Amino acid sequence: MAQRFVDLLFRAVTAGLLWLFGLLTPKSRVSGKKLPPVRHPLLLESATQLARKIRRREVSSVEVVQTYIDRIQEVNPLINAVVQDRFSAALQEAAQVDKLIEEETGGEDVLEDRLPLLGVPLSVKESFALQGMPHTAGSVSRKGTLAPVDTPSVALLKRAGAIPIGVTNVPEQCMWIESHNHVYGMTRNPYDLDRIAGGSSGGEGSILGGAGSVIGVGSDIGGSIRLPSFFCGVFGHKTTPGIVSNDLQLPPFSSRQEEILSTGPMCRYAEDLLPMLKIMAGPNADKLSLDTKVDLKKLRFFTLPDCGGAPLINPVSEELKQAQRKVVERLEADLGVTVEEVHFPELKHSYDMFFVCMNLPDNEGKEPTSFATVLGEPGPPIWPFWELLKAAVGKSNHTLPAIVFAIMSKLTKPPFSVLKIKEKLQQDVVELLGSDGVLLYPTFTRVAPKHHHPLLFFNDIIYTAIFNVLALPVTQCPLGLNEEGLPLGLQVVAGPLQDHLTIQTALYLEKAFGGWTDPGAK
Ligand SMILES: *[C@@H]1O[C@H](CO)[C@@H](O)[C@H](O)[C@H]1NC(C)=O
Repeated sequence: MAQRFVDLLFRAVTAGLLWLFGLLTPKSRVSGKKLPPVRHPLLLESATQLARKIRRREVSSVEVVQTYIDRIQEVNPLINAVVQDRFSAALQEAAQVDKLIEEETGGEDVLEDRLPLLGVPLSVKESFALQGMPHTAGSVSRKGTLAPVDTPSVALLKRAGAIPIGVTNVPEQCMWIESHNHVYGMTRNPYDLDRIAGGSSGGEGSILGGAGSVIGVGSDIGGSIRLPSFFCGVFGHKTTPGIVSNDLQLPPFSSRQEEILSTGPMCRYAEDLLPMLKIMAGPNADKLSLDTKVDLKKLRFFTLPDCGGAPLINPVSEELKQAQRKVVERLEADLGVTVEEVHFPELKHSYDMFFVCMNLPDNEGKEPTSFATVLGEPGPPIWPFWELLKAAVGKSNHTLPAIVFAIMSKLTKPPFSVLKIKEKLQQDVVELLGSDGVLLYPTFTRVAPKHHHPLLFFNDIIYTAIFNVLALPVTQCPLGLNEEGLPLGLQVVAGPLQDHLTIQTALYLEKAFGGWTDPGAK
């Protein structure tokens, strides 16, 4: 009864604040504008198809790269997703690719083996080191910092022939679900410019959803690949941790935090997930079963409708619940499987479990670097309360969510006793999924919120963060648009190292529900 009352009060306060926000948020310059529809057919092909056409000389790499540059120039003034381009370098590299293909005598197979992404443009999250490009993660104090080398996952993609065309926006030091900072400003959702693109890989989500990129890379410690992929209607894969290198990314992370951090592919077409992951994993690809043929009819499917209700967590919206039910119905009708509904009472503690996992001391008892320190680097730590006062008069270099986050982490202590509950949940879920189980779970509680509104929905990231805690692979899959034209979606989860199962399910869902939708087409 008391819980019910608190829930009702929470909902009423949230609704009231949303209304107030609506009054306070000034109309932006782009408000009400729409992305132009995709006209060039090359923008509607997967990276896999583009690479094949380039190898067969059916199209030149220069033409593909130029087509993407044109699209970025068309949409980026509206969405502010690409924060620094390298167009002329990319065009030069594309010309070298075309020359290489011209001169290659070994035939198409040799090229496919050695350089599977040869000539295809790639976008990269700005918090990843990309040689010669800005590497600030949205911190004013790091303005002007250029990356001297590539982060390993990007180096592997480049070695496979992909051509980086630019770096994309993030929240300040990647610690929020709205991509906004005082170096680059705010990134917008391609389906509705008044809404968030998500974060922290929000620039990636936005430029992919807006058809200004076909493949990109992101990282995910609480939902940073899956949330922007969901809000922007594309595919994003959170890899089993420990498979893809996380080196040379911002912010710095502790060894315990790395246990829940995953780098992975983001893309508009599901067929690019697997080849990208294979490349990004390097030699670790052998630990996954990416080449194993999967018969979806033989898998065991489970559906988990929500976290079962928890304090300060919003309920999952009816339209997202319905989208998930439709997936269950399609799976049962198409594959003849029975999708079993499951519940885990431990999910009530999702937020505490995540909070604890973010703050575990390492083996020597050293705690992770405080967020106030991260925000100050390369200078001294910031004073969050002082910055809050400065922010109130518009004079802080830091964004409000980053300051609030730094204050919260100073004031609150992680409830370490929840680790026991986490261990039980992990055991139960891993056992349930085994090596042939797939679980469906909402990606978030609602479609893309309006700008600034995540301040009220932040705790809802437990829907994605719980799988960082559980160290499981997850693919976020788009499921078409709602009545307002905003992307719906769903998380597909499997047991440890079973990344191929979630990716194969993503391929099926793309066929069944249409995958990515052109935001300009509505
Ligand atoms: C913002 O950062 C710049 C560069 O680090 C610094 O010169 C300036 O004083 C800072 N401004 C405030 C209000 O802290």
